[in-house]
Amino acid sequence: MKISDDILYVGVNDHDIDLFEGHYIVPEGMAYNSYIVKGDKTAVMDSVDGHFADEWIGKVKEAVGSPDYLVVQHMEPDHSGSVKSFMEAFPEAKIVSSQKAFTMISNFFEGEDYADRRVVVKEGDTLDLGGHTLSFITAPMVHWPEVIMTYDAEEKVLFSADAFGRFGGLDKIGETNEEDDDWACEARRYYFGIVGKYGPQVQAVLKKAAKLDIEKICALHGPVLVSDLGYFLGLYDTWSKYESESEGVVIAYTSVYGNTKKAVELLAEKLEAKGVPAVEVTDLARDDIAEAVEDAFRYDTVVFATTTFNNGIFPFMREFIDSLVERNYQNKRLAFIENGSWAPQAAKVMKGMLEGCKNMTYCENDVKIVSALNDASRAQLEALAEELAAAYK
Ligand code: FEO
Repeated sequence: MKISDDILYVGVNDHDIDLFEGHYIVPEGMAYNSYIVKGDKTAVMDSVDGHFADEWIGKVKEAVGSPDYLVVQHMEPDHSGSVKSFMEAFPEAKIVSSQKAFTMISNFFEGEDYADRRVVVKEGDTLDLGGHTLSFITAPMVHWPEVIMTYDAEEKVLFSADAFGRFGGLDKIGETNEEDDDWACEARRYYFGIVGKYGPQVQAVLKKAAKLDIEKICALHGPVLVSDLGYFLGLYDTWSKYESESEGVVIAYTSVYGNTKKAVELLAEKLEAKGVPAVEVTDLARDDIAEAVEDAFRYDTVVFATTTFNNGIFPFMREFIDSLVERNYQNKRLAFIENGSWAPQAAKVMKGMLEGCKNMTYCENDVKIVSALNDASRAQLEALAEELAAAYK
């Protein structure tokens, strides 16, 4: 793929991976993007996962022969896994990266510090390729502390490291956003799973980006963003401010024998009947928890429904709430359904887990189920449905 006359794509698609970053299902695979910027000298922007070193180096050789620089924007192994192979394949090349990244290079590749092949860059430094000048922007914690982004003013291209990434191989989802009809869904799951904890740091980078004239964004995953950039930047602004993107209710539940599930299904029916704009139901034991986390950040309201278990709550709900809290969950309306056969206390436990979260509104009508639905708990469900729906009228 040509991004422009002087910028080429040399990334790879991974369809063998079972869990990206050891954690995320990727039904459409994963792209490890890498680019070449050709001036009088040539820079390669990031390497790829080590399993693809030979394929990637072959592409680099075919495109430019012997490059002068490898710019390492991010040291997570999905991008840095082939750094050592590159340095062996191109013995004249130098690495351009942050000081922190060089420390990580030594840690990941025992015995390698590339002391005489280093170009250490910091905020505002530039690298003149002749015809293209690369400017470096530090982006700590988007997604690791060593991260830099790179701006090519001649082409108005921002190389954004992990930011604006998306799950999926480019051979499945398209090489640019103009071919990709579902960017937000998998970009949102990626964002909240991987970068969601670091909203303030993303905001800091967005402020730097706002000063640049950007026509294309080349991320390390997902398609190249070539048009409608305001849409993508706007979503990142919303997500990193922890603002809700959509109106609607997520009902996240676990159910041991189906009784809590019946309550959830009844609540969902009532919410739909009362005109709530969106109702998303997720079974935390069976559905993708990263998708549930994504939805919990996307929508303005979440109902947590679970059973009392070992004097606490059911394990999948505990993992779900932990996943939200550790990502700075905030600015939501919350409601709780608990089920317990002799000492129900799940609602109290869930509220305790969430109590440190900022700017939460708690519904007045919690629901208590004692083993199975009865008239009393059905009435509580109706009251909760009325309270939830009222906010959208
Ligand atoms: Fe795509 Fe943080 O690595």
